[in-house]
Amino acid sequence: MGSLVLEALAKRYGTSVAVERVDLEVRQGEMVALLGPSGCGKTTTLRMVAGFVAPSAGRVLIGGADVTQMPPHARDTGMVFQSYALFPHMTVAANVAFGLEMRRVGRAERDTRVREALRLVRLDGLEDRLPRQLSGGQQQRVALARALVVNPAVFLLDEPLSNLDAKLRGEVRMEIRALQQRLGLTTLIVTHDQEEALTMADRLVVMERGRVRQVGTAEELYESPADPFVAGFVGQCNLVEGALEGTGVFRAASGALLACAATPPPPGRHVLALRPERIEVTPAADGPARLRAVTYLGPLTEYHLDLDGTPLLAIRPTPTAGEPSRLMSAGDAVTLSWDASAARLLSAAQPGQT
Ligand SMILES: Nc1ncnc2c1ncn2[C@@H]1O[C@H](COP(=O)(O)OP(=O)(O)OP(=O)(O)O)[C@@H](O)[C@H]1O
Ligand SMILES: [Mg+2]
Repeated sequence: MGSLVLEALAKRYGTSVAVERVDLEVRQGEMVALLGPSGCGKTTTLRMVAGFVAPSAGRVLIGGADVTQMPPHARDTGMVFQSYALFPHMTVAANVAFGLEMRRVGRAERDTRVREALRLVRLDGLEDRLPRQLSGGQQQRVALARALVVNPAVFLLDEPLSNLDAKLRGEVRMEIRALQQRLGLTTLIVTHDQEEALTMADRLVVMERGRVRQVGTAEELYESPADPFVAGFVGQCNLVEGALEGTGVFRAASGALLACAATPPPPGRHVLALRPERIEVTPAADGPARLRAVTYLGPLTEYHLDLDGTPLLAIRPTPTAGEPSRLMSAGDAVTLSWDASAARLLSAAQPGQT
């Protein structure tokens, strides 16, 4: 068991930069999610922690010990790869035993631990099957068992649920989280599924172009994003370019005026960030905004709006029969309102700036 520390970790391939710089501490027993767009360096970071990629600079510490120069099997890590990477010609039991063989664990102990690991992921009875004789969710669990069987100090998961359908993903997500908490595993999980990150992890790391943009709890990132990139990446957000017109009034590039928080913003250029669930939409024949489209999502309804040339998205609980807003449809004029404090002014991010 132990914490995981990444110190100024970087990876370059020739002149191209895969990871510019990552500093991060994952506390013992904590689950941290790496989140970011495709190509931002998530997998490379994870592979450097596991020892499959040698860093160009920086250090990896596990339980305080520098493991940067150690080969993968000498590190106390267990990794689940995005594609599961099961050995297709090997049985379930042999797949799970692999890491123990690499670590020269004796046969008797190996068999016991494989059995325990398979019981843990509820695959007992399927020891002798080949991966192709398993469902996607079962293969996923073999990959989990294979990583867990070595009792890793650090558990690494690279988009472990990406090949599962939505229902199974929800189930396996809860299983992984429960296991991680029960075993107290220090865990770094890569995902680009926001919901996955929000529901599973204690803290999230938002990366962009090989750099850490912000680290925090889901609530911190959602309620207090450091910049427009984080605001737009964690949850949905209306991001409106423009300039502060006066205290509490923001003029969008289109000319539309929007109420915003009165707290003095940091100097420089600004983007107004307003979460869609904070915008209330009311039918009004003389309203200043127009409804472009209404999308029914079951419990929620999306309203695609236009306010004097500025597109806005509102998401509201679906109105019940009898509520006036139930009858709103595309083309209608509407009034929009929100609590001014919900419209935050963020500094427009400079490319490459953290
Ligand atoms: N072996 C390699 N040689 C050269 N460039 C590489 C290599 N591996 C990764 N890269 C580059 O480094 C960058 C980061 O890749 P990485 O796989 O870490 O991204 P990622 O965040 O995991 O993306 P995704 O969400 O698509 O999996 C990409 O631009 C990628 O093309
Ligand atoms: Mg990746």
